[in-house]
Amino acid sequence: MKAVVWHGVGDIRLEDVTEPKIEHPSDAIVRITGSAICGTDLHFVRGTVPGMRPGTILGHEGVGVIEELGPQVRNFAVGDRVVIPSTIGCGRCVYCRAGYYAQCDVANPNGRDAGTAFYGGPAETGPFDGLQAEYARIPYAHTNLVPIPPGVTDEQALTVSDIFPTGWFGARLAQVGEGDVVCVLGAGPVGQLAALSARIQGAGRVLIVDGHADRLETARLQNAETIDFNTEDPVEVVKELTGGIGADRVIEAVGVDAERPAGGPAAEHMDERAAAEFEHELAEVAPETNVQGRQWKPGDAPSLALRWAVEMVAKAGTIGIVGVYPPNHMHFPLGMAMQRNLTVQAGNCNHRRYMPGLLSRIAAGGADPTTVISQQEQVPSVIEAYQAFDRREPGWTKVVLEMSG
Ligand SMILES: NC(=O)c1ccc[n+]([C@@H]2O[C@H](COP(=O)([O-])OP(=O)(O)OC[C@H]3O[C@@H](n4cnc5c(N)ncnc54)[C@H](O)[C@@H]3O)[C@@H](O)[C@H]2O)c1
Ligand SMILES: [Zn+2]
Ligand SMILES: [Zn+2]
Repeated sequence: MKAVVWHGVGDIRLEDVTEPKIEHPSDAIVRITGSAICGTDLHFVRGTVPGMRPGTILGHEGVGVIEELGPQVRNFAVGDRVVIPSTIGCGRCVYCRAGYYAQCDVANPNGRDAGTAFYGGPAETGPFDGLQAEYARIPYAHTNLVPIPPGVTDEQALTVSDIFPTGWFGARLAQVGEGDVVCVLGAGPVGQLAALSARIQGAGRVLIVDGHADRLETARLQNAETIDFNTEDPVEVVKELTGGIGADRVIEAVGVDAERPAGGPAAEHMDERAAAEFEHELAEVAPETNVQGRQWKPGDAPSLALRWAVEMVAKAGTIGIVGVYPPNHMHFPLGMAMQRNLTVQAGNCNHRRYMPGLLSRIAAGGADPTTVISQQEQVPSVIEAYQAFDRREPGWTKVVLEMSG
């Protein structure tokens, strides 16, 4: 079968690989009809989240049709349409039972303290072969498959594999409530759906910060107030728009590949000391890179979105962090957060917890997350699609891959 395989930093290939087989009685094999490229995949290819094992199939977003079931999967039948949660839980440990699927005690073969188990990630996350393939093996399939309700399209369901629940989770971590002024950092797919989720969860106003006009425009069409960090200082603008108070809640949807402003007042406000700190952080998180022209270039300001979050939130406000940082990232402005009585929550999304509710909402016409999907690509062009998404070319916000017919 065809799959996208990680060989090294800056080296991914579309290859023929062996099809997966049932290995445990609670496994399922899913024929993947649709997968997608996520900002998280970029961290692995750029080298800013280290530890990938060569040969791992990439991808953690997928919808498909059940091809084969192990004897212990009793809640599905061959032929069912399903969406796959990005993170893997066992469905029986205390963490899964409490809804903390991303902290499952059992699913990660490296042990209960190894961290979140998910598809297509570094060695310490399993590794599990990913979903940018024609077929995938799904462990604990009773829990790690969710049926797609009638009337919900593959495209809609695909957003529920990762980005919509992650946006929802980001708004929950930020404790969004009725009337809150919420600022979302990052207008990638996760940030866009965090904005939508914040609105559904009661936000009065939603502000959103990015440096790409096309992404900001998509967010504005959802009624978000847009701020371009290349022409304005986002901290100043958020203060100005909120009568000097700041945002009640901030959702950080950027992660370790955060970029410095290319110009404007935010660039002018960055002193040499901050620049030197970013260089140091980058050397720490990404000792190995493989930049090819404009391709696979890590962000040049790993902690900048975290700094802006702490500076733009109101006193005693809350920050929810869903942008991904590797375990060796050690830089958070704790002093300022402490002095301002902030609440800060962060984490990998417990996808499975939110998926059924979000699917019901979509089925009922209560949310359409597909506004973020901008490109549909077929298998032969997946590597080019990765490259365009990596360069953040206009219109390449969320790429859906048609893996098999
Ligand atoms: N916690 C989770 O479970 C989870 C799940 C999915 C994705 N993620 C993470 O969420 C983040 C966003 O994912 P995505 O798919 O939307 O990625 P993306 O790369 O498409 O989007 C990131 C956006 O941030 C913007 N950006 C860069 N520097 C910025 C800055 N200084 N301030 C504001 N915006 C800035 C970029 O222009 C881009 O539009 C990534 O770190 C990804 O790994 C986390
Ligand atoms: Zn993802
Ligand atoms: Zn578990």
